[in-house]
Amino acid sequence: MDGNLFLDALACRNVSRPPVWIMRQAGRYLPQYQEFRKKYALTELFSHPDLAAEITLLPIDAIGMDAAILFSDILTIVKGFGFGLDFVEKKGPQIFPRITSAAQIQALPSFDLEKVRHVQKTITLLKETLLVPLIGFAGGPFTVASYIFGGVSEVKAFLYNYPQEMHLLLQKLTEATISYLQMQVAAGANALQLFDSWAGMLPLEEFNKFSLHYLKQIVESLKKLVPVIVFARGSSLFAEELAEIGPSCISMDFQVPMKDLRKKVPKHIALQGNLDPELLLAPEDIVRQKTKALLDAMAGEPGFIVNLGHGVLPATLVENVKAMVDTVKSYQPMASSSWTATI
Ligand code: CP3
Repeated sequence: MDGNLFLDALACRNVSRPPVWIMRQAGRYLPQYQEFRKKYALTELFSHPDLAAEITLLPIDAIGMDAAILFSDILTIVKGFGFGLDFVEKKGPQIFPRITSAAQIQALPSFDLEKVRHVQKTITLLKETLLVPLIGFAGGPFTVASYIFGGVSEVKAFLYNYPQEMHLLLQKLTEATISYLQMQVAAGANALQLFDSWAGMLPLEEFNKFSLHYLKQIVESLKKLVPVIVFARGSSLFAEELAEIGPSCISMDFQVPMKDLRKKVPKHIALQGNLDPELLLAPEDIVRQKTKALLDAMAGEPGFIVNLGHGVLPATLVENVKAMVDTVKSYQPMASSSWTATI
């Protein structure tokens, strides 16, 4: 996939308009996805490669995103440790049995890649037809642990009480994540994103010890194979720390202007983001205006990918997502910028 906008931007050598995709693009707000949800349980959608592949393609076909993200979930991986996983309406994901003691961590079975093999099959199927790069992904170990403990407050209380056992669990999750992502790359994923969504709930010292330390191991193992993007809510707060682990790209939350973040992150690391997901609930002309303002602010940047600062909201109108994507695709760079006009 030479000369591709998305992969070029990840390598910080894009000279055309920036590529665009949005987090959680393969579900939620899409009417076609809601049709699938009427017919199948969520766990069925995640575990059947043909259905998961079809859903992955929806935002590519309907909206024209520049990259596809695998339809799966950051919690799929826990099945490899023998946990049960269910998505309960209005309550969110439930993992059972819930971990409440250090003894349960010691007793965890070793990670079995066979239990998540359907993800490999989904990627293999997708690669037969997909014309844009495919993003594989996994959760950050701290975020996955938050769900294993049934909440971010629970996991934080545990880590202050039993730091050694917490590290043991995070190390097990890290090693599992590395082999899970290696499997995704071997099947054809062109880039990877780590979602450490809850890491921003930690104070800096604990963030370094319980989140970043593990993200670093994953980035170092996988970056040799494909570009790796890291996302955390709190990424703008911890931008310098995230840059130090050497990801290919940092996906920024929406609080701090991208231009200011660019000054904090070394030029060889690409940036992704960072429109507010609630912006897509605004009138279409406001969506266009704010998207254009972001493009103007980042004009000429060779390592920039347009995205939201967090996942697209379920109530978002498809028309507004299209308005955002069209604004990026039809953007005419200023004559002074090094981006050349492309349509
Ligand atoms: O980007 C994509 O569309 C690809 C697929 C994807 C899903 N989840 C599908 C999904 C991705 C990348 C995720 C990541 C994920 N999952 C995160 C990290 C990103 C973030 O938003 O911070 C987290 C924290 C989860 C855990 C999770 N899965 C929650 C909290 C929920 C319930 C609420 C919700 O987000 O809808 C899920 C279920 C889930 N994962 C759905 C989908 C499409 C549910 C949709 C439905 O109810 O039909």
